[in-house]
Amino acid sequence: MSLTILVTGGAGFVGSHTVLELLNAGHEVICVDNLCNAFGASNSKLPESLKRVEELAGKSVLFYDVDIRNRDGMRGVFKKHKIDCVAHFAALKAVGESCRIPLQYYQNNITGTSILLEVMEENNVFNFVYSSSATVYGEPQKLPLDENHHTGNCTNPYGKSKYFTEEILKDLCQSDARWTVISLRYFNPVGAHKSGRIGEDPNGEPNNLMPYISQVAVGRRLCLKVFGDNYDTPDGTGVRDYIHIVDLAEGHVSAIQKLVSGELNGFVVYNLGTGRGYSVLEVVDAFSKASGKDIKFEIVDRRPGDVAISYADVSLAAKVLGWTAKRGLKEMCEDTWNWQRSNPNGFAGSN
Ligand code: NAD
Ligand code: UFG
Repeated sequence: MSLTILVTGGAGFVGSHTVLELLNAGHEVICVDNLCNAFGASNSKLPESLKRVEELAGKSVLFYDVDIRNRDGMRGVFKKHKIDCVAHFAALKAVGESCRIPLQYYQNNITGTSILLEVMEENNVFNFVYSSSATVYGEPQKLPLDENHHTGNCTNPYGKSKYFTEEILKDLCQSDARWTVISLRYFNPVGAHKSGRIGEDPNGEPNNLMPYISQVAVGRRLCLKVFGDNYDTPDGTGVRDYIHIVDLAEGHVSAIQKLVSGELNGFVVYNLGTGRGYSVLEVVDAFSKASGKDIKFEIVDRRPGDVAISYADVSLAAKVLGWTAKRGLKEMCEDTWNWQRSNPNGFAGSN
C-alpha cells in the first residue's frame, strides 16, 4: 500500500536516509525542515541532502522550509496534503549545547512536538512515529537494555527532552484512543548510504565518535580524543551499540507499515540497535582497516554524563516489526569512509 508520509527534519542525517528508503518502498514523502542543521543552497528549492535523495530514488520529494513551531505554516502543509502518518525527526540534538541553552532545546524539541501533535489532531491524523533515543534509559541497571528498562534520570536537557516527549506521547495515547504512536529508541546511528551521496554532515567539531574518526582519517582533524580508558569494559573504553543508518531507516519503514496496519494500539516502543556493543578502540581499529588510514588518538578524561556500556535487546522489534539490523561494524566504517572521502567537506562542497 502506498502511503503519504510527512517527515519532519527530513533534510537531516536520519531523516534523509529514511526518506530514501520510504521512496524506495513506494511511498510518497513530504518533508518539513527549517534547515537549522541542514545544508541548503539559497538558490535551490531543495536542501542538498534531499536533492541527492531524489537522484538516488529517481523520484521527487515535496519540501517545505517550515519550522515545526510555526503553527500556521504547519497548518498550511496539512491543508495541502492528505497525510497518513507523520515521522518526526526534527529536533536539536547536541548534548553539550543543550546544557548551555536548555530553554531552546525544550522549546524546539518539546513545544515543537506539541504544536505538531495539535496540528495533526486538527487534521485528523493520528499515526505518529517518534525519534527517541537510548539516552532515555539513563545509567543502565541491567544489560542488554530492553524496552521495559526504567526511563528517566537523563543527565542533560537533550536527553530529558526525549524522555519528557515520550511521557507526553504516553499521556496523549491514554487520553484518546485514536492515537497510535511508535517511539523508536535509537542506539548509535552511524554509516552512510552505499552510494556515498548522503551521510552525516555535522556542523563544526563533531560531538560523536564516528564522524570525529572519519574527519581525522580525511585530514580535517588532527587527533581523536578518547574519553576515558578506565571504564569497567574489556579495554577500558566506552562500549556502544552502533547501528548502520540504512538499517535504522529500514526500521522506520517497517514501523510505519505496522503502524498503519491497525494492529497496534496506543503508545508502543521499540529499540533500534544491533544487540552488539563495540568499544571506542574497536571502532578506531575497524575504521583504520576500512579506510587504510592511521587514526591518531590520545586518551583524555572521561566525558561527563557518559555511561560505560550501552547495548540493546533487539528481540521485540524482530518479533513485532519483523525487522533486524543486517549490517555489521565493517560495513558501517566502509560506508562512512566512502561518504567522507568523496565529500571531505560534507554537503557544503557539493558536486
Ligand atoms: P539532524 O540534526 O541531522 O536532523 C534534524 C533535522 O531537523 C535537521 O535537518 C534540522 O534542520 C531539522 N530541525 C530541527 N529543528 C527543527 C524545527 N524546529 N523545525 C523544522 N526542522 C527542524 O539530526 P539526526 O541525527 O538526523 O536526528 C534526527 C532525530 O533522531 C532527532 O530527533 C534526534 O534527537 C534523534 N536521534 C538521533 C541520534 C543520532 O545519534 N543521530 C540518536 C538518537 C536519536
Ligand atoms: N567518544 C570519544 N571521543 C569522541 C566522541 C565520543 O571517545 O570524540 C566516545 C564516548 O565517550 C562514547 C562513545 O565514543 O564512549 C560514543 O560516543 P558518541 O558521542 O558517539 O555517542 P553517545 O553514546 O554518547 O550518544 C549518542 C548520541 C546521543 C544519543 C545517545 C543514545 O549522540 O544523541 O547516543 O545512547 F542520545
